[in-house]
Amino acid sequence: MADSKDITIKIDDRDVTVPPGTLVIEAARRMGIEVPSFCYFPGLSLQAACRMCLVEVEKAPKLQTACTLVAMPGMVVRTNTEQVHQARKAMLEFLLANHPLDCPVCDKGGECELQDMVFTYGADKSRFAEEKRHQPEQKWSEAVYYDAPRCILCFRCVRVCDEGMDVKALGVGQRGSQSVIIPNGEDHLECEECGMCIDICPVGALTSGTYRYKTRPWEMTYVSTVCTHCSNGCKTTLSVRNNEILRANNRDLSGFNKDFLCVKGRFGFDFTRHPERLKLPLVRRGAKLEPSSWEDAIAEVSRRLAEIHKASGADSIGFIGSNRTTNEENYLLGRIARASIGTNNIDHHRTADYPTLIAALGEKAASASATMTQLYEADAVLLIGDDPTEQNPLVAWQIRSAIRHRSSRLYVINAKSIKLRRQTKEFVEVPLGGESTAVRWLASGEAQLDAAVYEKLSALKAALVKESNVVIVFGAELTGAALRDLVKFGASLPGQTRYIALGDYANSRGASDLGLVPQLLPGYAPVSDAKAREKFGKLWGAKLPDKSGLDARGMLAAAAQGKLRALYVVGANPVKTFGVDVKDKLGKLDLLVVQDLFLTETAKLADIVLPAASAYEKNGTMTNTAGEVQLVRKGGDVMGTRSDFDILRILSHQLAQQGLGQAIRLRTPEAAFDEIRQTVAGYNISQAALLLGEAERTSPISTANGSAKFDVPVGSIFSAHDTLFTSGSLGRYCTTILSLPEAAIEVEAEARP
Ligand code: SF4
Ligand code: SF4
Ligand code: SF4
Ligand code: FES
Repeated sequence: MADSKDITIKIDDRDVTVPPGTLVIEAARRMGIEVPSFCYFPGLSLQAACRMCLVEVEKAPKLQTACTLVAMPGMVVRTNTEQVHQARKAMLEFLLANHPLDCPVCDKGGECELQDMVFTYGADKSRFAEEKRHQPEQKWSEAVYYDAPRCILCFRCVRVCDEGMDVKALGVGQRGSQSVIIPNGEDHLECEECGMCIDICPVGALTSGTYRYKTRPWEMTYVSTVCTHCSNGCKTTLSVRNNEILRANNRDLSGFNKDFLCVKGRFGFDFTRHPERLKLPLVRRGAKLEPSSWEDAIAEVSRRLAEIHKASGADSIGFIGSNRTTNEENYLLGRIARASIGTNNIDHHRTADYPTLIAALGEKAASASATMTQLYEADAVLLIGDDPTEQNPLVAWQIRSAIRHRSSRLYVINAKSIKLRRQTKEFVEVPLGGESTAVRWLASGEAQLDAAVYEKLSALKAALVKESNVVIVFGAELTGAALRDLVKFGASLPGQTRYIALGDYANSRGASDLGLVPQLLPGYAPVSDAKAREKFGKLWGAKLPDKSGLDARGMLAAAAQGKLRALYVVGANPVKTFGVDVKDKLGKLDLLVVQDLFLTETAKLADIVLPAASAYEKNGTMTNTAGEVQLVRKGGDVMGTRSDFDILRILSHQLAQQGLGQAIRLRTPEAAFDEIRQTVAGYNISQAALLLGEAERTSPISTANGSAKFDVPVGSIFSAHDTLFTSGSLGRYCTTILSLPEAAIEVEAEARP
């Protein structure tokens, strides 16, 4: 709707009304008129370097650059005159003066902005007779290569690295026609290796180590899905040829991350083809794990589970689920544990206290959860704990973008001097583990602080209480009572305060929402609530147990005591996650079953290992840490594996034959999601929107279950402290990422005790 301050200008004889400050290039785009541009890129500073966007403006003595020209009332612009056409053609002639025109072998051929422009303006002849200057291609890192002759000096790469990433690894060397882009390490890059510079380059000057010279754009299919690494849920487009993923980017800008992907999202997909990928089920015969058929392996799992169930009861069996399996798979795993086996012994590695946040917010849980877009739109951000640059790169990008584009203010409480500190208005450095004390003081004034922290925290509080539209983002440092303090403090701020709890992996939030917690059924319905048990029991064809279950550490302790006899692990590696003595505890089990991609430390101890498909090889949905659900779509395929969904579904049929529960009749993830939409509080979201590629926010209030009040013991919540270059077990098989020198430093640091 037009605002009274909006202004009207004429472009190519048509009126367009735009807000004050709109650039002519953007005003034209609103009308569907594409003014050609190379150096202009929305969200980055203006450069006016390429002169491709020249347009005629009435009463102006010469052509103007539409990318820097602000629309003024009554302005009359022409974008398609003979003069404009000639100017663009001449600019292209200059750009091609040294360009090698090696389109037939260039990675960018077929999706190159320069190639498209030359086709449009027909700059097919050059008046330059001089020999073209050649420079050899440079390898700046395993991920980034630079081919100077192809570079058109638009400086998009320099600006995205400086302004967008706050890394400043790229600059311009030499002068005039000799100018080239140079990396910060003289002949190599020392940076975050995000590949944003490659992605934003309009030509084939910057190319990707994983993709270069492998294929052509028209030989691939494009699959829109969600990154499988951290919990931020960046949308990614996988470029796939012959079932193999060759590239990941988000060039259609369709997700909330727009063009952003970090190094893991962009280069961390080659684990799918890692030679150590499991492709056959393995069954232990004596000391050795031996290959088996799927039929035999699953039959053995169900037979042995049934034997243990009969001899020692349902609670002698436990389940540890995953932070990376889909919502549908988590739903099925919960059903098998609670309905087929009849135990509440089910958990996962919890990396954020979503249940306490949702319980503390109560009926406001839906409206008070910030989406990733709302984080960008916040007037102020309070960040407590975590290091988003390393652990939640999109969150860091959103915060930096909000500060750059919208002058948002950032306030930070942290025990470490994190990189985002550079952008803060107030930074309070607390002692190690001191975040919860600081929050208690903010909420109630009742906490002992040392003088320096007191002074800083007082200044932060004084500034925050003047803010409104604040988004509070926090890491695993805040759980339980500290989180309730935080919500109390948030409620005291003027305007709407929203929250994002930062978990660690792609579907941490979905694991929690779908009930991979001993005390909670899907949708945060407490197992102690008879109505909720009845609802899911009816749906799943069983009387659900009301006895409280064991969490992951409880299950491991029970295994050590011989009380837990069987453990079923899906996409998790408790040996690595829960500590050094776990190996001994698992050794006491009568049956350990592991579904995973690789022979992890835990899988090595298993009696039966089932090779699972990764998130890039299946369909379903995932929920990011901000509670936004997105579709996961199958990109590649690895022969021999099965999705966790199929494995669990088949298992339920086998268990039913053993007299345990009913077979799951949901044949596809889509059917399971339909059931989730109808039964899980907060998940009745628009399927049409998901199919259109949008992210839909869940509204996880437990009023649908009769009450917003539930009290879940906080239990064991801890961050994996993954970095930009590590990603749990999966990260250890991302060959390209591991080859980066920056990764080697971080992986080494991670391995240190
Ligand atoms: S890879 Fe990322 S951090 Fe490195 S130079 Fe390119 S934009 Fe900058
Ligand atoms: S390398 Fe690409 S993005 Fe960077 S200045 Fe050259 S053409 Fe532009
Ligand atoms: S920020 Fe997280 S979700 Fe986004 S690309 Fe990086 S690892 Fe993937
Ligand atoms: S796009 Fe306007 S000068 Fe480059």
